[in-house]
Amino acid sequence: MRILPPDLLKKKALKEKITVVTAYDYPFAKIVEESGIEVILVGDSLGMVVQGLDNTLPVTMDDMVYHLKMVTRATSKAMVIGDMPYMSYQTSTEDCLRNAGRFLKEGLANAVKLEGGSEVVGLVRALTRAEVPVMAHIGLTPQSIYRMGGYKVQGRSEDAANRLIQEAKMLEDAGAFALVLEAIPSDLAGRITSELSIPTIGIGAGNCCDGQVLVLHDVLGLFDRFLPKFCKRYVDMKSIALSALKEYKKEVESELFPSKEHSF
Ligand code: KIV
Repeated sequence: MRILPPDLLKKKALKEKITVVTAYDYPFAKIVEESGIEVILVGDSLGMVVQGLDNTLPVTMDDMVYHLKMVTRATSKAMVIGDMPYMSYQTSTEDCLRNAGRFLKEGLANAVKLEGGSEVVGLVRALTRAEVPVMAHIGLTPQSIYRMGGYKVQGRSEDAANRLIQEAKMLEDAGAFALVLEAIPSDLAGRITSELSIPTIGIGAGNCCDGQVLVLHDVLGLFDRFLPKFCKRYVDMKSIALSALKEYKKEVESELFPSKEHSF
Protein backbone atom coordinates (compact mmCIF):
# COMPACT_ATOMS: atom_id res chain seq x y z
CA MET A 1 0.00 0.00 0.00
CA ARG A 2 1.26 3.44 -0.90
CA ILE A 3 1.91 5.98 1.83
CA LEU A 4 -0.55 8.85 1.44
CA PRO A 5 -1.26 12.16 3.24
CA PRO A 6 -3.37 10.60 6.07
CA ASP A 7 -0.42 8.33 6.91
CA LEU A 8 1.82 11.38 7.40
CA LEU A 9 -0.77 13.03 9.64
CA LYS A 10 -0.90 9.83 11.69
CA LYS A 11 2.88 9.82 12.01
CA LYS A 12 2.80 13.37 13.37
CA ALA A 13 0.12 12.42 15.90
CA LEU A 14 2.25 9.44 16.99
CA LYS A 15 5.37 11.64 17.11
CA GLU A 16 7.09 9.40 14.56
CA LYS A 17 9.59 11.24 12.35
CA ILE A 18 9.03 11.38 8.58
CA THR A 19 11.93 10.98 6.14
CA VAL A 20 11.77 12.58 2.72
CA VAL A 21 14.43 12.56 0.00
CA THR A 22 14.42 13.66 -3.60
CA ALA A 23 14.81 11.26 -6.53
CA TYR A 24 14.60 11.91 -10.24
CA ASP A 25 14.93 8.59 -12.05
CA TYR A 26 14.07 4.90 -11.99
CA PRO A 27 17.25 3.32 -10.50
CA PHE A 28 17.60 5.79 -7.64
CA ALA A 29 13.86 5.80 -6.89
CA LYS A 30 14.08 1.99 -6.57
CA ILE A 31 16.95 2.30 -4.07
CA VAL A 32 15.10 4.96 -2.08
CA GLU A 33 11.98 2.81 -1.93
CA GLU A 34 14.04 -0.19 -0.76
CA SER A 35 15.52 1.96 2.04
CA GLY A 36 12.05 2.35 3.56
CA ILE A 37 12.06 6.15 3.23
CA GLU A 38 8.42 7.18 3.25
CA VAL A 39 8.30 10.05 0.79
CA ILE A 40 10.07 10.83 -2.50
CA LEU A 41 10.04 14.40 -3.74
CA VAL A 42 10.69 14.81 -7.44
CA GLY A 43 12.11 18.25 -6.75
CA ASP A 44 12.77 21.03 -9.22
CA SER A 45 16.27 20.82 -7.68
CA LEU A 46 16.78 18.43 -10.59
CA GLY A 47 17.59 21.59 -12.57
CA MET A 48 20.79 21.93 -10.56
CA VAL A 49 21.78 18.35 -9.66
CA VAL A 50 20.69 16.58 -12.87
CA GLN A 51 20.53 19.23 -15.60
CA GLY A 52 23.60 21.21 -14.46
CA LEU A 53 21.78 24.56 -14.30
CA ASP A 54 22.73 27.39 -11.92
CA ASN A 55 19.29 27.47 -10.26
CA THR A 56 15.82 25.92 -10.51
CA LEU A 57 14.09 28.68 -12.48
CA PRO A 58 14.50 27.29 -16.03
CA VAL A 59 12.97 23.87 -15.17
CA THR A 60 9.82 23.19 -17.23
CA MET A 61 6.61 21.24 -16.70
CA ASP A 62 7.72 18.75 -19.38
CA ASP A 63 11.02 18.18 -17.53
CA MET A 64 9.14 17.49 -14.31
CA VAL A 65 6.57 15.15 -15.87
CA TYR A 66 9.40 13.21 -17.61
CA HIS A 67 11.18 12.60 -14.29
CA LEU A 68 7.96 11.95 -12.34
CA LYS A 69 7.05 9.13 -14.72
CA MET A 70 10.33 7.34 -14.02
CA VAL A 71 10.02 7.71 -10.26
CA THR A 72 6.40 6.58 -10.01
CA ARG A 73 7.18 3.60 -12.30
CA ALA A 74 9.88 2.52 -9.83
CA THR A 75 7.80 2.71 -6.66
CA SER A 76 4.74 1.13 -5.10
CA LYS A 77 5.07 2.13 -1.43
CA ALA A 78 6.72 5.54 -1.13
CA MET A 79 4.51 8.57 -1.61
CA VAL A 80 5.67 10.53 -4.67
CA ILE A 81 5.33 14.31 -4.66
CA GLY A 82 5.88 16.41 -7.80
CA ASP A 83 7.42 19.84 -7.33
CA MET A 84 5.66 22.49 -9.40
CA PRO A 85 8.28 24.44 -11.37
CA TYR A 86 8.61 28.20 -11.61
CA MET A 87 5.73 29.81 -13.56
CA SER A 88 3.65 26.63 -13.67
CA TYR A 89 1.33 27.98 -10.95
CA GLN A 90 2.13 31.67 -10.35
CA THR A 91 0.34 32.81 -13.55
CA SER A 92 -3.26 31.85 -12.69
CA THR A 93 -5.42 29.43 -10.74
CA GLU A 94 -6.36 27.78 -14.02
CA ASP A 95 -2.69 27.19 -15.00
CA CYS A 96 -2.01 25.89 -11.51
CA LEU A 97 -4.89 23.39 -11.63
CA ARG A 98 -4.08 22.28 -15.17
CA ASN A 99 -0.39 21.74 -14.41
CA ALA A 100 -1.03 19.98 -11.10
CA GLY A 101 -3.50 17.81 -13.02
CA ARG A 102 -0.71 16.85 -15.44
CA PHE A 103 1.42 15.73 -12.48
CA LEU A 104 -1.34 13.40 -11.26
CA LYS A 105 -2.66 12.22 -14.63
CA GLU A 106 0.57 11.92 -16.67
CA GLY A 107 3.28 11.67 -13.99
CA LEU A 108 1.09 9.59 -11.64
CA ALA A 109 2.20 11.71 -8.67
CA ASN A 110 0.33 11.34 -5.39
CA ALA A 111 0.62 15.02 -4.49
CA VAL A 112 2.21 18.30 -5.55
CA LYS A 113 4.47 20.79 -3.79
CA LEU A 114 4.57 24.50 -4.45
CA GLU A 115 6.57 27.36 -2.95
CA GLY A 116 5.21 30.48 -1.31
CA GLY A 117 3.28 31.96 1.60
CA SER A 118 0.18 34.16 1.63
CA GLU A 119 0.37 34.67 -2.16
CA VAL A 120 -0.31 30.97 -2.83
CA VAL A 121 -3.01 30.39 -0.20
CA GLY A 122 -5.78 30.73 -2.83
CA LEU A 123 -3.98 28.23 -5.07
CA VAL A 124 -3.63 25.73 -2.22
CA ARG A 125 -7.36 26.08 -1.55
CA ALA A 126 -8.24 25.59 -5.24
CA LEU A 127 -5.99 22.51 -5.54
CA THR A 128 -7.41 21.01 -2.35
CA ARG A 129 -10.96 21.55 -3.68
CA ALA A 130 -9.89 19.74 -6.87
CA GLU A 131 -8.66 16.77 -4.78
CA VAL A 132 -4.98 17.50 -5.35
CA PRO A 133 -3.03 16.99 -2.10
CA VAL A 134 -0.64 19.90 -1.58
CA MET A 135 2.62 20.17 0.31
CA ALA A 136 3.43 23.85 0.90
CA HIS A 137 6.95 25.30 1.20
CA ILE A 138 7.97 28.47 3.07
CA GLY A 139 11.17 30.06 4.40
CA LEU A 140 13.91 30.02 1.81
CA THR A 141 12.05 29.36 -1.43
CA PRO A 142 14.61 28.77 -4.21
CA GLN A 143 12.24 30.08 -6.91
CA SER A 144 12.51 33.50 -5.13
CA ILE A 145 16.32 33.74 -5.12
CA TYR A 146 16.44 36.91 -7.21
CA ARG A 147 14.01 38.73 -4.86
CA MET A 148 15.71 37.27 -1.75
CA GLY A 149 19.17 38.13 -3.07
CA GLY A 150 20.45 34.55 -2.94
CA TYR A 151 20.15 31.47 -0.76
CA LYS A 152 19.75 33.22 2.62
CA VAL A 153 18.36 32.10 5.98
CA GLN A 154 14.83 33.52 6.40
CA GLY A 155 12.73 34.51 9.42
CA ARG A 156 15.58 35.92 11.54
CA SER A 157 13.81 39.15 12.60
CA GLU A 158 10.73 39.10 14.85
CA ASP A 159 8.56 40.54 12.06
CA ALA A 160 9.76 37.98 9.53
CA ALA A 161 9.30 35.15 12.03
CA ASN A 162 5.75 36.27 12.86
CA ARG A 163 4.93 36.49 9.17
CA LEU A 164 6.12 32.91 8.62
CA ILE A 165 4.04 31.67 11.57
CA GLN A 166 0.94 33.40 10.14
CA GLU A 167 1.60 32.04 6.66
CA ALA A 168 2.09 28.50 7.99
CA LYS A 169 -1.34 28.69 9.66
CA MET A 170 -2.95 30.13 6.53
CA LEU A 171 -1.52 27.31 4.39
CA GLU A 172 -2.77 24.70 6.86
CA ASP A 173 -6.24 26.33 6.86
CA ALA A 174 -6.23 26.32 3.04
CA GLY A 175 -5.80 22.54 3.06
CA ALA A 176 -2.05 21.81 2.76
CA PHE A 177 -1.32 18.34 4.17
CA ALA A 178 2.33 19.14 5.01
CA LEU A 179 4.67 22.10 5.05
CA VAL A 180 8.35 22.29 4.08
CA LEU A 181 10.33 24.75 6.20
CA GLU A 182 13.59 25.66 4.50
CA ALA A 183 16.53 27.54 6.04
CA ILE A 184 14.88 29.14 9.06
CA PRO A 185 16.09 29.24 12.69
CA SER A 186 15.46 26.00 14.63
CA ASP A 187 13.44 27.75 17.38
CA LEU A 188 11.08 29.24 14.82
CA ALA A 189 10.65 25.86 13.09
CA GLY A 190 9.87 24.34 16.51
CA ARG A 191 7.21 26.99 17.16
CA ILE A 192 5.57 26.46 13.78
CA THR A 193 5.69 22.67 14.27
CA SER A 194 3.95 22.88 17.64
CA GLU A 195 1.26 25.26 16.36
CA LEU A 196 0.25 23.17 13.33
CA SER A 197 -1.60 19.88 13.17
CA ILE A 198 -0.07 19.04 9.77
CA PRO A 199 3.52 17.75 9.67
CA THR A 200 6.42 20.13 9.07
CA ILE A 201 9.30 18.82 6.98
CA GLY A 202 12.53 20.69 7.59
CA ILE A 203 15.59 21.36 5.48
CA GLY A 204 17.99 23.61 7.32
CA ALA A 205 15.33 24.12 10.00
CA GLY A 206 16.73 22.10 12.93
CA ASN A 207 15.51 18.91 14.50
CA CYS A 208 12.16 20.02 15.97
CA CYS A 209 10.34 19.50 12.67
CA ASP A 210 8.14 16.42 12.20
CA GLY A 211 10.39 15.22 9.39
CA GLN A 212 13.40 16.07 7.27
CA VAL A 213 14.03 16.36 3.54
CA LEU A 214 17.37 16.34 1.71
CA VAL A 215 18.43 16.36 -1.92
CA LEU A 216 19.53 12.83 -2.90
CA HIS A 217 22.65 13.98 -4.74
CA ASP A 218 23.82 15.84 -1.59
CA VAL A 219 23.19 12.78 0.61
CA LEU A 220 25.10 10.49 -1.77
CA GLY A 221 27.94 12.85 -2.68
CA LEU A 222 26.96 13.12 -6.33
CA PHE A 223 26.79 16.93 -6.40
CA ASP A 224 30.04 18.66 -5.53
CA ARG A 225 29.56 22.21 -6.86
CA PHE A 226 28.71 23.24 -3.27
CA LEU A 227 27.24 21.68 -0.12
CA PRO A 228 24.93 23.93 1.93
CA LYS A 229 25.66 23.99 5.70
CA PHE A 230 22.39 22.15 6.39
CA CYS A 231 23.16 19.17 4.15
CA LYS A 232 24.94 16.04 5.26
CA ARG A 233 26.90 13.88 2.79
CA TYR A 234 26.43 10.27 3.98
CA VAL A 235 28.63 8.70 1.29
CA ASP A 236 31.08 9.94 -1.34
CA MET A 237 29.62 8.17 -4.37
CA LYS A 238 31.47 10.42 -6.78
CA SER A 239 34.81 9.03 -5.54
CA ILE A 240 33.50 5.46 -5.67
CA ALA A 241 32.26 5.91 -9.25
CA LEU A 242 35.46 7.68 -10.29
CA SER A 243 37.75 4.91 -9.06
CA ALA A 244 35.56 2.23 -10.72
CA LEU A 245 35.67 4.07 -14.05
CA LYS A 246 39.45 4.62 -13.82
CA GLU A 247 39.93 0.91 -13.13
CA TYR A 248 37.72 0.00 -16.11
CA LYS A 249 39.76 2.31 -18.39
CA LYS A 250 43.03 0.82 -17.11
CA GLU A 251 41.78 -2.72 -17.75
CA VAL A 252 40.63 -1.86 -21.29
CA GLU A 253 44.01 -0.29 -22.05
CA SER A 254 45.95 -3.21 -20.59
CA GLU A 255 43.61 -5.74 -22.28
CA LEU A 256 42.61 -7.24 -18.92
CA PHE A 257 38.97 -6.57 -19.86
CA PRO A 258 37.17 -8.36 -21.36
CA SER A 259 38.63 -11.57 -19.97
CA LYS A 260 37.50 -15.06 -21.00
CA GLU A 261 34.80 -14.85 -18.31
CA HIS A 262 33.20 -11.90 -20.12
CA SER A 263 33.58 -13.29 -23.64
CA PHE A 264 31.66 -15.81 -25.80
O1 KIV B 1 13.41 20.99 -5.19
C1 KIV B 1 13.67 20.42 -4.13
O2 KIV B 1 14.40 19.42 -4.09
C2 KIV B 1 13.09 20.97 -2.91
C3 KIV B 1 13.52 20.40 -1.59
C4 KIV B 1 14.93 20.65 -1.30
C5 KIV B 1 12.63 20.79 -0.48
O3 KIV B 1 12.29 21.84 -2.98
